Amino acid sequence: MPRFYITTPIYYVNDAPHVGHAYCTVNADALARWHRLRGDDVFFLTGTDEHGQKVARTAEEHGESPEAWTDKLAPRFAEAWRALEVSNDDFIRTTEARHRRAVQAFLTRIHDNGYIVKGTYRGQYCVACEQYYSEDELLEGNLCPVHRRPVELLEEENYFFRLSAFQQRLVDWYEAHPDAVAPEPKRNEALSFIKGGLHDISITRTSIDWGVPVPWDEGHVFYVWYDALVNYLTAIGFGEDEDRFETWWPAVHHLIGKEIIRFHCVWWPAMCMAAGIDPPAHVQVHGWLLVGGEKMSKSSLNQIAPADLIADYGVDAVRYHLLRDVPLGSDGDFSAEGITARYNADLANNLGNLLQRVATVVGSKCGGIGPAPSASGRLADEATEATEAAVAAWDAGQPHLALEATWRLVRAANAALEAAEPWKAEPGPEVERVLGDALEALRLVALLAAPAMPTATAAVWSRIGLPGSPADHRLPGDATWGGYPGGVPVEKGAPLFPRRKG
Ligand code: ME8
Ligand code: MG
Repeated sequence: MPRFYITTPIYYVNDAPHVGHAYCTVNADALARWHRLRGDDVFFLTGTDEHGQKVARTAEEHGESPEAWTDKLAPRFAEAWRALEVSNDDFIRTTEARHRRAVQAFLTRIHDNGYIVKGTYRGQYCVACEQYYSEDELLEGNLCPVHRRPVELLEEENYFFRLSAFQQRLVDWYEAHPDAVAPEPKRNEALSFIKGGLHDISITRTSIDWGVPVPWDEGHVFYVWYDALVNYLTAIGFGEDEDRFETWWPAVHHLIGKEIIRFHCVWWPAMCMAAGIDPPAHVQVHGWLLVGGEKMSKSSLNQIAPADLIADYGVDAVRYHLLRDVPLGSDGDFSAEGITARYNADLANNLGNLLQRVATVVGSKCGGIGPAPSASGRLADEATEATEAAVAAWDAGQPHLALEATWRLVRAANAALEAAEPWKAEPGPEVERVLGDALEALRLVALLAAPAMPTATAAVWSRIGLPGSPADHRLPGDATWGGYPGGVPVEKGAPLFPRRKG
């Protein structure tokens, strides 16, 4: 059975999740759900990044111990994902004992292999990024290029990872694995960073104790990124269950935001090489959700809570908007106008209207019993084209294209109804053919959009009289034209997506 291991970044618990985090997590969820529909064996991992200076300082600012603070914040991420119907198989917290063991085992291997050495480090550090910057990377006035706030001069004696030893091996590896980073411009960004020359990195801290202790030198803790990246291994049994580990590694899909390319596409593969395991097979980089042109972020005041959007628009509409409007790889503006416009156009006026019309006319012309579709015809052809395109786009990890193709079918089905006007016709075989075809289109749309909107598509499914839910099916086989059985009751309920004013 094909396997699909997908991860999100583990999010810092310095504040509650916002829609930017939801964007990444919902995309990962849709891809995980797609692969389950495909019949693949799926493991979908998300979680929280709880160590390091940023989290320790936030806890202190709130007058709490880091333990108490992280125990309070981690569940807020888990709750947000539940509310968004995110189907993760595991939720990892870096403060868990299983993770401490994996970090220590992994870094001990690197140390034993001679790639961790002692030295002194002095540099400009951004606490919000948990990263040192070189002078030429800083903005005017010694500001962090991501957060635009002052960096701090830090100096400490600590351990270094010999990243410089991996420059050529990384270049060779990327050349041998052209699809290791997508999209292409992000791969080029990683490669040019590597080719620009790699310096050794300081990977331990003595200035704080909120981290995983270095097993061979008490008093040092691992730098938070070197702790965090290992989560991808912890959750699949690294160091504890070799069979399980080999089941999932290295064929992983890391979905990440573009600001953490260097960590995932340079440091992480080098760390894996240093520990004697293969680098991750796929890193898919996505862009940022912007508010008024600025990145939505925990350090700005422009964050929007997923729960507020869900309360306002409903979970299906929020998921649909996140997946449909910002292609993976691009930045996109996030606004109330944008989500409302998308909701009205695609959900209220198109899908909702199609379902409502079909159910109404089946009620008035067919006694509420859905007729079977025709064997072929124009809508069947349009459906086959749209289905093939949607399947290919989901397979390629492009939800926005999959949904675009699926909505071509929604519009084609509405157009076919408008052309035939069955609501004006006498009951009979022609009306039955038109309605049967529209019902089949709805069945296909429910299957193809199920990874995006699990609840709404299950509602469509049961309203058109089908048992179970789309998730019980296997694609692409079950998305072949003609699967709607006919002879089943069609229910006209309240509109699934009532039109919104604002
Ligand atoms: O970087 N638009 O955690 P983090 C889109 N703990 N995505 C966004 C976003 C936005 N405006 N804001 C955040 C960390 N994200 C580390 C990761 S992994 C081993 C450690 C998403 O809380 C995006 O996926 O800053 C980004 O990469 C991630 O949240 C960063 O979350
Ligand atoms: Mg960040």
